[in-house]
Amino acid sequence: MPIASSRTAALYDRVRRVIPPIEWPAFTGDIEAILDLKRQRNAVILAHNYQTPEIFHCVADIVGDSLALARKAMTVEADVIVLAGVHFMAETAKLLNPDKTVLIPDTQAGCSLADSITAKDVRLLRQRYPGIPIVTYVNTSAAVKAESDICCTSGNAKAVVEALGVPQVIMLPDEYLAQNIAAQTAVKVIAWKGHCEVHERFTPTDIRQLREDHPGVTVLAHPECPPEVVAEVDFSGSTAAMSDYVGQQRPARVVLMTECSMSDNVAVDHPDVEFIRPCNLCPHMKRITLTNIRTALEQNRHVVAIDPEIAGRARRAVERMLAV
Ligand code: 13P
Ligand code: SF4
Repeated sequence: MPIASSRTAALYDRVRRVIPPIEWPAFTGDIEAILDLKRQRNAVILAHNYQTPEIFHCVADIVGDSLALARKAMTVEADVIVLAGVHFMAETAKLLNPDKTVLIPDTQAGCSLADSITAKDVRLLRQRYPGIPIVTYVNTSAAVKAESDICCTSGNAKAVVEALGVPQVIMLPDEYLAQNIAAQTAVKVIAWKGHCEVHERFTPTDIRQLREDHPGVTVLAHPECPPEVVAEVDFSGSTAAMSDYVGQQRPARVVLMTECSMSDNVAVDHPDVEFIRPCNLCPHMKRITLTNIRTALEQNRHVVAIDPEIAGRARRAVERMLAV
């Protein structure tokens, strides 16, 4: 079988260092079909940094961290947005584009953080801590956002917390992100007990072992990792911040303590950097495939819908974040 048709040959050139030639023919049919469907349906694909390289580099129109996807979702001019990421990201895109069709290729693409808290939990927190603003990570349902004062992402959490101009905030649902932000600011942070099932598994022992096995390695970690992990790394930031760090600092060897596809996607643009690859897969992100993106566009599924009353309040919390 040929490695690629003329249309996909240029795409394969881009990803050849992270997709073996034997795997590529399995992708080309779906890639061709998706490129055609995007034109026919006036659709764009927004893909998170944790999507696999054949999605991220070959069919996505807009890529980035949660903050970038939310910001760029507002500027999209297409009729249809396909969100290659998890459900809360699709809901955020819908909140910011109420008149567009937003599709998520698999409705089961959830998030352990989003599952860790309900709208009722937030109402109870508000009763327990009257007057203390509630800062909610975007990794939550629209119903939880609707009970919140403002949203944040890992890319802007410190700025959001400090912009409120108060001595204390509630930050939910990620306990570790809350603790990592608390370590960088004078604002007191009350946390919830949610965790990311991918990042909670990294340990300080992993980092020490990596440094011993790969002398001189630069270690980066997502702030959803436990604080004792973040304390031992060279840099911690959102997925976009980690990608920028590699681009700007050009470490000779680097390890990204985060989801596995991140290293593949960043490695494509940095052939001079050696990526050491212990990583954890996010089973939710991995539910999105080229095949179900193609089906989403062919069959117009699954359409993201949010109760209008919830959407109005959730949108305010997201827009307030975007204004910071
Ligand atoms: P970012 O906002 O840093 O892309 O993180 C999203 C996420 O789900 C990390 O696990
Ligand atoms: Fe949620 Fe963690 Fe997966 Fe991100 S990596 S979507 S926070 S479970």
